[in-house]
Amino acid sequence: MTDFPAGFFERQDEGADAAFYGPDRFVTHIDDGAIAAVGTLYADLGVTGRVVDLMSSWVSHFDDPPEHLTVLGMNRRELDGNPMATEGVVHDLNADPTLPFPDDSFDDAVCCVSVDYLTRPIEVFADVARVLRPGGRLVTTFSNRCFPTKAIRGWLANDDEAHCRIVTAYFESSGRFEPATVDVRVPPGRGVDPLYAVWAAST
Ligand SMILES: C[S@@+](CC[C@H](N)C(=O)[O-])C[C@H]1O[C@@H](n2cnc3c(N)ncnc32)[C@H](O)[C@@H]1O
Repeated sequence: MTDFPAGFFERQDEGADAAFYGPDRFVTHIDDGAIAAVGTLYADLGVTGRVVDLMSSWVSHFDDPPEHLTVLGMNRRELDGNPMATEGVVHDLNADPTLPFPDDSFDDAVCCVSVDYLTRPIEVFADVARVLRPGGRLVTTFSNRCFPTKAIRGWLANDDEAHCRIVTAYFESSGRFEPATVDVRVPPGRGVDPLYAVWAAST
């Protein structure tokens, strides 16, 4: 999948993201098992150095904090409340897909349960590669829940397996990453939140 049909990146709520994410949400968006699976994934991959958590909030799900963690999201109070963060940056990736960081700023980037809200994901993925060291990874994780009015229509119209192919296509279409790895960290059908991971190293 590298062609995205008309309307794929549209949303029911095309209002400003700053308005939707203005109210604080000090909540978790996946269950404890899925959160633990994210932490185990980061540990397995050795995401421990200079890291940026994209589309972040007050929790970043690492077992142990990385050496330096920059959190980027929409709500200043949530970012300031993130105990693992070294610094917090408010930045709307749909309004401006260029990250406010110099080239080669980070060893790795992560994005948890949020890739479905990107309306310009290919531009964002390409720019993530710019701010990563060569070989640095972008690690995305997602489950089967979302804010439906803010998720893109292409995500809502597809199932979990297709979501893995969609994110793989984002990496491929950006032209800035090695082939992606897809991993089902918590399989569906167990009565708990499933957890899928798709990651790739920048070229
Ligand atoms: C479902 S929450 C996930 C938060 C966190 N990553 C987690 O694992 O709990 C979605 C997050 O995406 C962020 N977000 C949504 N739209 C965004 C945008 N246009 N630019 C940057 N961040 C955005 C919000 O600030 C919010 O924290």
